[in-house]
Amino acid sequence: MKRYSRITGTGSYLPPRRLTNADLVAELAAKGVETSDDWIVERTGIRARHFAADGVYSSDLGLEAARSALQAAGRNPQDVDLIIVATSTPDMVFPSTACILQNKLGANGCAAFDVQAVCSGFVYALAVADSMIQTGAAKCALVVGAEVFSRILDFNDRTTCVLFGDGAGAVVLEASTTPGILASDLHADGKHVGILCVPGHVSGGAILGDPLLKMDGQAVFKLAVGLLESAAKATLAKANLTEADIDWLVPHQANIRIMQSTARKLKLSMDKVVVTVAQHGNTSAASIPLALDTAVRSGQVKTGETLLLEGVGGGFTWGALLLVL
Ligand code: ACO
Repeated sequence: MKRYSRITGTGSYLPPRRLTNADLVAELAAKGVETSDDWIVERTGIRARHFAADGVYSSDLGLEAARSALQAAGRNPQDVDLIIVATSTPDMVFPSTACILQNKLGANGCAAFDVQAVCSGFVYALAVADSMIQTGAAKCALVVGAEVFSRILDFNDRTTCVLFGDGAGAVVLEASTTPGILASDLHADGKHVGILCVPGHVSGGAILGDPLLKMDGQAVFKLAVGLLESAAKATLAKANLTEADIDWLVPHQANIRIMQSTARKLKLSMDKVVVTVAQHGNTSAASIPLALDTAVRSGQVKTGETLLLEGVGGGFTWGALLLVL
């Protein structure tokens, strides 16, 4: 009998400090950086984001999301035999945030590692966990997306600092005789490294290069829409399904205009798109599981429905994953 993987619980967590656009506009104005609620809403759809307090790390946000997902799945940390954390804002250079999270969770002993694919990270991590479950290497995986992007934002650069937020989302993925994850499609093209990156690195005890996020927004926008369309179509084809079979598109929450363009290309009504960017901003690898958990807990998305998850981000990386919830 074919072995599938299936999501049995979802969870998410947002740090308590919430900044509306008005709050952020006022903070930036005090530094001489000019922006407005109107500009941010019109260009991005973002109305608020959460920022973690000093001393709170990706593993802390991931821990809360993981606990909530385990509770929803009716599982204990000891049941988990694989932890994958998708993050581009790890707690340390090493060890992995997954190992730090594992220890905080009390799930010590199971395999744990990070996936670094920026905003595509959660789709990458879920596809890897699915493969490991299908091969029998794992049977109960915790897949987490967690980010503290506020730490790598340049608050003197209005073209980027208004876009991102902090948060975490998680799913428990378990072996199952019924599907589950139906198909996935992952890609990267390293020739686009420079359009979205944090170019600095640590060397000899100092940071060399710029440790803050740099982005060519228009180049990202143009690439993102086409790549998301191709990944979605390739994933559907692998499962012998079409756009008409999708109950919900759960896209990376970068920008409402990217989501609208993608939905248009897939001939999907926006009524079928889970949208949380207004309240969360772009939380990179956390954005898809955060959106998924929000939609599950509000009753918008239901067990048995067919979901297409898709992400795109720095690298350039992109991918999609089709599943029955
Ligand atoms: N407030 C006010 N004005 C601003 C701001 C701001 N925060 N940021 C830029 N502007 C100004 C610019 O200076 C420019 O002014 P000018 O015409 O006088 O030179 C004007 O607004 C237009 O700037 P553009 O960069 O052309 O604005 P655009 O319409 O391209 O929107 C944006 C910028 C929102 C970043 C857009 O390019 C975009 O959505 N790109 C996708 C990138 C994205 O979402 N990245 C997220 C990370 S990647 C990912 O997750 C996939």
